[in-house]
Amino acid sequence: MKDKIRVAVIGCGNIATSAHIPAYMASENAEIAYFCDIRPERADAAVEKNGCGKAVYDYHEILDDPGLDAVSVCTHNDMHSVIACDFMRAGKDVLCEKPAARILSEAVEMQKVSYETDRILSIGVCNRYSAAVNKIKRLIDEGVLGEVYHVYASFRAYRSIPGLGGDFTTFAASGGGSLIDWGVHYLDLVEYVCSDPEPLTVSGSAFSKLGSPISDYIYTSMWAEQDYDPNGTFDVDDSVTGLIRTSGPVITFNGAWAENIDEPGTFIDFIGTKGGIRHQYCGGFTLYTVRDGMLIRSEPQFRRNDMHRDEVLDFVECVRKHERNRNDISNAILTSKIMQAVYDSSEARREIVL
Ligand SMILES: NC(=O)c1ccc[n+]([C@@H]2O[C@H](COP(=O)([O-])OP(=O)(O)OC[C@H]3O[C@@H](n4cnc5c(N)ncnc54)[C@H](O)[C@@H]3O)[C@@H](O)[C@H]2O)c1
Repeated sequence: MKDKIRVAVIGCGNIATSAHIPAYMASENAEIAYFCDIRPERADAAVEKNGCGKAVYDYHEILDDPGLDAVSVCTHNDMHSVIACDFMRAGKDVLCEKPAARILSEAVEMQKVSYETDRILSIGVCNRYSAAVNKIKRLIDEGVLGEVYHVYASFRAYRSIPGLGGDFTTFAASGGGSLIDWGVHYLDLVEYVCSDPEPLTVSGSAFSKLGSPISDYIYTSMWAEQDYDPNGTFDVDDSVTGLIRTSGPVITFNGAWAENIDEPGTFIDFIGTKGGIRHQYCGGFTLYTVRDGMLIRSEPQFRRNDMHRDEVLDFVECVRKHERNRNDISNAILTSKIMQAVYDSSEARREIVL
């Protein structure tokens, strides 16, 4: 086992500066060797702020550094597959932000390279590290809900299209909108809690109704205005709905970055024969059970955690031990399969059999 690993952060934007970099800085077992961004000022600022590492503006320069053990890929979705595969082929382990990739074939290639090169490839589906999510998983594994036959996920907002006219709203950069950006977390969370059931059939519809043209879109909050380009592209889904039959429960979902109902709902219902759980996304949960002729509703209290931080710290330990973890591409790829099938189903206007 390695004492201390040397890592590089590729892409020094929002998620890198808010999650990956602080977690590596907090780890006794990791040292940031490089901050890399094609926007030099971002790499330079990261070096200055953190007082360590070297700024680089082209990741190819560090591929062959024999002292580099692992990288966090925190660029936008279009570069995930390319950068992750380049580093794995160069012998480095990779923690790649979610979604694994824009389309399923890119994610499949990443999985293939990960196993061919025997390099760890973890995907940033951070809810797998949430204390609340793991409590729910345990209750379900212990049979408290009985048979969980239906899971419903709601990730609906009123006016929350992000980064108007930027990477998030441009298909070529993102591979999709509300489903691939938000839905990926919800679907992966459900897959994890329900022990990674295989998707069997998928029916979905993705809509792109409110964001185009962007100049007509009325927003009230969020960070939409950051880098706002009124002439920018909007060619992704702003809402989505679907039904997935799996080897476990049926999963249904409604999601929207924006829709003309101001009743935002970000929760997941796990519905079983003996009980149910409503998980408030990124929050706690309500447990509904039946006992001795009583309907019981409880709000379990427990210590919360920083799931992003714990995800990065676990990655560090897995690199040191050369062990795959719960965010391994082989688990995360189920969500890529589902999302691809939702988009395919929407386009074909029929159910997809996997
Ligand atoms: N896990 C989560 O909850 C979560 C939250 C936010 C974002 N994300 C994901 O993180 C990724 C980045 O999102 P963000 O909001 O941080 O975006 P961002 O635009 O703030 O940051 C991306 C950075 O990557 C840089 N970059 C682009 N191409 C590069 C290249 N070839 N080499 C080096 N740097 C490059 C950009 O200049 C930019 O600074 C996305 O895939 C997004 O889906 C995950």
